[in-house]
Parts: sequence; C-alpha cells; structure tokens
Amino acid sequence: MTGGSAIERWRDKMLSERMLEALNKQVNAELYSAYLYLSMGAYFESVNLKGFANWMRIQAQEELMHAMKFFDYINERGRRVKLEAIEKPPTEWNSPLDVFEATYKHEVNVTNMINNLVNMAIEEKDHATYNMLQWFVAEQVEEEASADEIRQQLKFIGEEGRGILMLDRELGQRTFTAEVTK
Ligand code: FEO
Repeated sequence: MTGGSAIERWRDKMLSERMLEALNKQVNAELYSAYLYLSMGAYFESVNLKGFANWMRIQAQEELMHAMKFFDYINERGRRVKLEAIEKPPTEWNSPLDVFEATYKHEVNVTNMINNLVNMAIEEKDHATYNMLQWFVAEQVEEEASADEIRQQLKFIGEEGRGILMLDRELGQRTFTAEVTK
C-alpha cells in the first residue's frame, strides 16, 4: 500500500501494515499478561500468601515492560500504536498449583504468539523486526522455565502447609529490575 505523501511512502517501506497490526496486537497481549498476573497477585493477597503475591506483582511489572518494548519499537519504526480494550482476566483459582498451571499454560501461549511474529517477520523479509523479536524468543525460554519450576515445586509440595509457606517466603524475595528500553 502506497500513501500519498513522501513521509507516508517512507513509512510504508519501514513496517508493513500486516506486521504493524500484529505488533499492535502483541502490545495488547502483553498488557493482558500484566493484567492476568496482577489478578493472580490479588488472589494470593486474598489468601494471605504475600510472597506469591509479590512474585505475581513483579511478573506484572515485567509484562508492562514487555508491552513498552513493543510500544517503543512501533514508534521507532515511524508507525502509530493503537491501543485496544484489554480483556477481563479470571479472578478465582482453586490453589497455588492451579494458578501456576495457568501461568505456565499462558506463557506457552505467549511463546507461540512470539514465534508467529518471528514467522511473519521472515515472510515479510523484515530483518529489523526479526532482530528485535530475538530478545523475546530468549525471554520466553526464561518465562516458561520460571513458571514451570514453581509449578513443579508446588506439585512436589502438594497440600502441605509448611512447604507452601517456605515457598511463599522464597517468592517474597523476588525483586524487579527496571530495564532501560530506550
Ligand atoms: Fe511477556 Fe510473560 O511474556
């Protein structure tokens, strides 16, 4: 698609409409992830597991950072971010294990989304977007691994209260390190 003005033509060259739309959707998906983890954090607060709640709060902050990476990238490529409504997340879970089963499943879904974006960048011969996405490819390996580790620990612990409290203390140690994205 070719726009009328010189600047529009330059923009068309920079990022295809198809790629732009997919990246815009990913901003929304990352914001949804933040919302989901914040909701899980609220659940943990309600059952007095402050360490788990802290882990989720930090996870939500990381997701906001992911959203901002896509937001900044779209702007850097001279295109316009269009924010959409964020879907309502679930609010109730049956147990900490239930939450981490959902967390792990969600991260596997996000990995699939990132892989689809990489496939699209290859199809579009968009090397810059391909390159930007490699950070997310590596990040998703970590995201899946950390959710899976806690999920496996919870399976091992079962319903045992003391084990849950020990894990709660450990997850309370997690801190957020802001990354400068620009
Ligand atoms: Fe933004 Fe947890 O992936």
